[in-house]
Amino acid sequence: MPNPWLRELRRVLIWLALAGLIAWPLGYPMTAILLVLGGYFIWHLRNMYRLYHWLRGHRFHPPEASGIWGEILDMIYRLQVRHRQRKRRLSGLIKRFQAATEAMPDATVILDDYGAIEWFNAAAEQQLALQPGRDQGQRIINLIRYPQFKHYLEEDSPTLPLRMAAPGDPGLMLSVRVVPYGSRQRLLIARDITQQLKLENMRRDFVANVSHELRTPLTVVNGFLETLNDDDTAQYPPHLARSLELMAQQTSRMQHLVEDLLLLSRLETDRNAPPHEPVRVAAMLAMIREAVEPLIEQKDQQLHIQADQALFIYGAEKELYSAFSNLITNAVRYTQDGGEISVHWYQDGKGTHFEVRDNGQGIAPQHIPRLTERFYRADTGRSREVGGTGLGLAIVKHVLNRHQAALRISSTQGKGSTFSCDFPENLLVEAAR
Ligand SMILES: Nc1ncnc2c1ncn2[C@@H]1O[C@H](COP(=O)(O)OP(=O)(O)OP(=O)(O)O)[C@@H](O)[C@H]1O
Ligand SMILES: [Mg+2]
Repeated sequence: MPNPWLRELRRVLIWLALAGLIAWPLGYPMTAILLVLGGYFIWHLRNMYRLYHWLRGHRFHPPEASGIWGEILDMIYRLQVRHRQRKRRLSGLIKRFQAATEAMPDATVILDDYGAIEWFNAAAEQQLALQPGRDQGQRIINLIRYPQFKHYLEEDSPTLPLRMAAPGDPGLMLSVRVVPYGSRQRLLIARDITQQLKLENMRRDFVANVSHELRTPLTVVNGFLETLNDDDTAQYPPHLARSLELMAQQTSRMQHLVEDLLLLSRLETDRNAPPHEPVRVAAMLAMIREAVEPLIEQKDQQLHIQADQALFIYGAEKELYSAFSNLITNAVRYTQDGGEISVHWYQDGKGTHFEVRDNGQGIAPQHIPRLTERFYRADTGRSREVGGTGLGLAIVKHVLNRHQAALRISSTQGKGSTFSCDFPENLLVEAAR
């Protein structure tokens, strides 16, 4: 198909040439050409008028027109049809999306860049006590007046969701998350986690109760076994003496396990901040050294402790003792005989750090992110052999969380591992310096 514009140009030129040729013998070719141009001008004006009225009016079909105008009107018509189809598809999509979000059990609220409510679904009405009509356009922090919620919304990029009671039903617990999208808009999603929390509490209570119930019988059994073992074991038949020794070993292992489980559940359930007592870490490290000394001697290892004597932090002494002694015991346990372990307690521009470095077997990278899970052991066979239960690092993680500190683990297989605890500046005891 030739270009319509060229066709139009050809048509005009032919008309002008014909007018000129016909009027030539009569002696007024210019007048004829001017007449044709005038007619052509009027034709354009008329079509422009029709186009204007068509676009202004609400008629769908374009007016009839010939030549280039027919093409132009046709093209505009096709664009309009396509536009209408797209609009219909989009509004169908929006309706379906709204119906889906409406049916979602999670409360969903769209907030504009000032935190004002643009839209919310039925679950948000119920759980967040919002009312359609009344609350649209209002700032959400004026409607949900919890300080921790206000705080959470003001955070730049919160990583963890916020747990709070539902304003619409205090019996419900919600996990609230804010996701930024578009141009500074935000989507607030609140999920009902009441049931999940109930199950979590049940699990925690169950573990705490079982551990508590096991404690007394184990103490009794262990007591008797110790008495029996304290007696002159030479009087027992050899197989009995060996059995008594094994029984004593295993019950003391179980006692450790029960104590660790109880400590873990205490750390988990204690919502209070740890005590704010100044902890003399250097002195604590000397005590830990005494406790691990027999094992170090047995393994012919070297333990170097480099601790800033004047560096105290605020915290819970018992909890920090558990954490630090587990990290040092781990280093001793999982490092071969003759190995070297260095412990460092120091301060730098970023905070206060406790670091345990060993030149032991190291940990394969796939295990590192999972080490703080309960009962997780990197090398099950060897860990069991050396007596671990896999609760130590879970305790470390909880203790550090309670002290706003973080655990960093780096390790190279065959070369050794470094476990670092980074404490924030604000825990430092200034007066001690
Ligand atoms: N310094 C280390 N070098 C190599 N592996 C380590 C080191 N520290 C920990 N691990 C690995 O991480 C696992 C988890 O350690 P964790 O302290 O949680 O448990 P555990 O030492 O086995 O038992 P528990 O501390 O409860 O007596 C260990 O079983 C071990 O495989
Ligand atoms: Mg351990």
